[in-house]
Amino acid sequence: HQPMTVYEAVGGEDTFVRLVARFYEGVAHDPVLRPLYPEEDLGPAEERFRLFLIQYWGGPRTYSDQRGHPRLRMRHAPFRVGARERDHWLAHMRAAMDDVALPAEFDRQIWEYMVYAAHSMVNVAEDA
Ligand code: HEM
Repeated sequence: HQPMTVYEAVGGEDTFVRLVARFYEGVAHDPVLRPLYPEEDLGPAEERFRLFLIQYWGGPRTYSDQRGHPRLRMRHAPFRVGARERDHWLAHMRAAMDDVALPAEFDRQIWEYMVYAAHSMVNVAEDA
């Protein structure tokens, strides 16, 4: 049979529900990040991010069924993402990952990806 995906190995949907819920609790109270989110209700953004991560780590492909190709840099173009926004984003992700407390090997693998992805989302050269 198929090798286990990271999605399965870390506990499947439930783990991603908890990770992303905890992350968005941080965003909801962050004065730098909260204004970037166009909708008053963060629920739909939370769901999109959760479905993306589930798909990325080998789970069901619901994200692309609903949203098509991720094209994340393009989708972030309307929002000003500087070093400050990136660092706030990563701080909430680190806190969420600490809460979820994955086995060290998966924590390292997922965190490495988050750091790389967050850096690649920066779309303003200088944090003026
Ligand atoms: C969407 C901010 C990094 C994945 C969004 C949105 C904002 C945002 C404002 C729109 C919310 C919505 O969906 O309505 C940021 C900021 C980042 C960041 C400030 C700092 C670096 C990342 C990273 C990832 C990511 C690193 C992936 C690992 C997504 C996804 C969506 C999204 C999947 C929804 C895309 C869609 O429309 O289908 N982000 N983001 N973001 N972000 Fe980020």
